[in-house]
Amino acid sequence: MRCLVTGAAGFIGSHLCARLVADDHEVVGLDDLSEGSLDNLAATPDVHLIEGDLRHEDTVLMAAEGCGMIFHQAAARSVPRSMLMPGFTTDVNVRGTLNVLLAANEQSARVVSASSSSVYGDQDSFPLREDMAPKPRSPYAASKLAAEILCESWLRTYGVPSISLRYFNVYGPGQDPTSEYATLIPKFVLACLKGDRPVIHGDGEQARDFTYIDDVVEANVVAARAPDEAWGKAFNIGGGQTPTSVNHILAIIAELTGAEPDPTHTDPRPGDVLLTDADIALAGSLLGYKPQTPVREGLQKAVEWFSAQFAPGRRAKG
Ligand SMILES: NC(=O)c1ccc[n+]([C@@H]2O[C@H](COP(=O)([O-])OP(=O)(O)OC[C@H]3O[C@@H](n4cnc5c(N)ncnc54)[C@H](O)[C@@H]3O)[C@@H](O)[C@H]2O)c1
Repeated sequence: MRCLVTGAAGFIGSHLCARLVADDHEVVGLDDLSEGSLDNLAATPDVHLIEGDLRHEDTVLMAAEGCGMIFHQAAARSVPRSMLMPGFTTDVNVRGTLNVLLAANEQSARVVSASSSSVYGDQDSFPLREDMAPKPRSPYAASKLAAEILCESWLRTYGVPSISLRYFNVYGPGQDPTSEYATLIPKFVLACLKGDRPVIHGDGEQARDFTYIDDVVEANVVAARAPDEAWGKAFNIGGGQTPTSVNHILAIIAELTGAEPDPTHTDPRPGDVLLTDADIALAGSLLGYKPQTPVREGLQKAVEWFSAQFAPGRRAKG
């Protein structure tokens, strides 16, 4: 099948492209390279990349021509940036998703759309289930929820089948540690490899449900062939284990890299939540999603990749 992957040059999009090509799909990518990089697609030359902006309806319509599936990964991803630039984040994430749905309607394509655990905000009970009322507490989280609602309503209004996947802290090889908007695992690995002081926001006891990249790619693949009752819904895509504190993640990375980091603590970041913990029963029963990678194993693979990229000659410890 011909598939469109938006955000194809980003972390998740590029891994997904590689998997779709390996599964013999014809893959078109759309990315404006604002955050992603052509390097991420270097090992997947079969992807036909269109450099363009998701916010332009004509660009998305053109990119989606002949596609039966759209995997919508592109977004302005950072919570802190969304606090500073709420209009920009909303344009990219909401208008961009609208354009994807317009294109899907024109092509009679199905859509799997990347959402985020951030839509839950701070909740009183855990684990987080899809039937809880979302309480987004940043413009990023609000834009992701708005995108989910657009997806759901496009099924009801125009019959466009779409599924939203609420990713929980995705990590793995290929993540950019140098971006201003990098997430904590690549930043910690790079700091440990270079002997820098990692920065922890708050006391580090905030805990996250970390999800390895291969499991997220698999979630997209199983969602694309989901049964009818799954369409129009949002699903938690978590790692399937007990949440891990930020301090514990740093301790594992320190052990794997042989570093003895002395972290700097700053104030907690506005918009950050204290705990994420996904109940993945719905994704398991309706999509057949079953994460395979324990955090330590995923971190080992990530550290190996980062060591080869950023500290060649240093090997990760087993
Ligand atoms: N990484 C995570 O932990 C995580 C967690 C929850 C949700 N998500 C969601 O998963 C998706 C992919 O995230 P990622 O980690 O791969 O991020 P990423 O920043 O690596 O990838 C996003 C890609 O979208 C592209 N992009 C941004 N704005 C664009 C625009 N206007 N037009 C075209 N392309 C544009 C960027 O250049 C980049 O290549 C995003 O929708 C994000 O919100 C990610």
